[in-house]
Amino acid sequence: MSVREVAHIGNPVLRKFARELKFDEIESEQTRRLVKDMVQTMHELGGIGLAAPQIGESVQLAVIEIPPNSERYPHRDPFPLSVLINPRVRVIDKTEQEFWEGCLSIPNLRGLVVRPRQISVDYLDHKGESRNIVVEDFLATVVQHELDHLLGVLFIDRVRDTTKLATDDEYVRYWMEEPPLETTG
Ligand code: NI
Repeated sequence: MSVREVAHIGNPVLRKFARELKFDEIESEQTRRLVKDMVQTMHELGGIGLAAPQIGESVQLAVIEIPPNSERYPHRDPFPLSVLINPRVRVIDKTEQEFWEGCLSIPNLRGLVVRPRQISVDYLDHKGESRNIVVEDFLATVVQHELDHLLGVLFIDRVRDTTKLATDDEYVRYWMEEPPLETTG
């Protein structure tokens, strides 16, 4: 188990459409190790989500976790550590919502991103079992951000208003008090 190097914007792996994991790969030792590395890397860097391409593995796998009493997200409902494999997203409520997003693969940049408010995700868990979650509000944004990584999409692609891009410092100085809150994955 180890903390892995995170690919930054400009690395072509972030722009590839990740391949699906085959069923027999999901329970393999290699995938188990990959999941452990992703969780450890996410914890080390203080993210609430990480997609496999961000550590250089172009496969359809993401981890998401919002810990209870998170220092960084004290006002957010916790979400248990979840492993999402080969996910399929369906928009349930296309009402638009805006949150400030950041990304471990785009250091020192925040942007205001518009996304649908509620989605349903069909996926396989770490044991290869079929699951479904319906998520809304902040969590829907977090999940969509992570699953975008599996399609080679980054949050900056979805920033409509480029005047709402900010470095971390300027975000704190000028934008943090605005209603939308941040996500990092
Ligand atoms: Ni990200």
